[in-house]
Amino acid sequence: MAALSIHHFRQAKQDGQPLVALTAADYATAQILDKAGIDLILVGDSLAMTSLGYTSTLPLTLEAMLHHAQAVRRGVERAFLVADLPFMTYQVQKEQALLSAGRLMKEAGVNGVKLEGGYPDMVETVAFLVQRGIPVLGHIGLTPQAKHQLGGYRQQGKTSPEAERLRQEALNLEQAGAFALVLEHMPAELAAQISEQVGIPTLGIGAGPDCDGQILVTHDLLGLSERIPPFAKAYTNLRQTILEAVQAFVVEVQKGAFPPS
Ligand code: KIV
Ligand code: NA
Repeated sequence: MAALSIHHFRQAKQDGQPLVALTAADYATAQILDKAGIDLILVGDSLAMTSLGYTSTLPLTLEAMLHHAQAVRRGVERAFLVADLPFMTYQVQKEQALLSAGRLMKEAGVNGVKLEGGYPDMVETVAFLVQRGIPVLGHIGLTPQAKHQLGGYRQQGKTSPEAERLRQEALNLEQAGAFALVLEHMPAELAAQISEQVGIPTLGIGAGPDCDGQILVTHDLLGLSERIPPFAKAYTNLRQTILEAVQAFVVEVQKGAFPPS
């Protein structure tokens, strides 16, 4: 199976072919997503919450991200593999971002990195990484690493100055060389306008149907998360499925029915 390259993303947008992206944090999940034909697999820092039990993404370290990204890498043959830069591993200065991204590329073999924000310093950082050969996925709108500044996980871009700022950030990130943009939790109309304005594909999450693709947190899709955001969809209830399987095992062991004699 040929591995997807960065060219796949612009081509898909030109062809009007919706892009499909999901998160993974371990080897088995990565293998399944890759087999299903996902275009992009993100080792998202949401794993701090879904896999590690933290209440936000802020505590995730670069070492922990490397550990998960290495496991995911071993399970992915085709999809374009991107890892999130954890909080405070890239915001200090662009050289810090380059060193963190470099470690993810060298030590985990990811194809690119995602970072949050489209403010001027971050746009400069994106250009700095791209010029040094690192594909960057941008992320604007609700940026969970800024939850304390944003006052929670609320929808962004609801007022017209905020919407204008987000449109400008999208254009600036494209200009800086980002290969695609995650648009998180913003009005559908705004995400549609941004998707129309930029030449690079947008991956929406809580951003309506008119993005160039969609991304979801796999734990939400599978019904493994404790709570799912209002814009996510659980396609199955694995919490219940796993509970029932484990309960069946408990009963069979207690009855002496497993293993069979
Ligand atoms: O960490 C994550 O899962 C993400 C996606 C929601 C885009 O950043
Ligand atoms: Na993230």
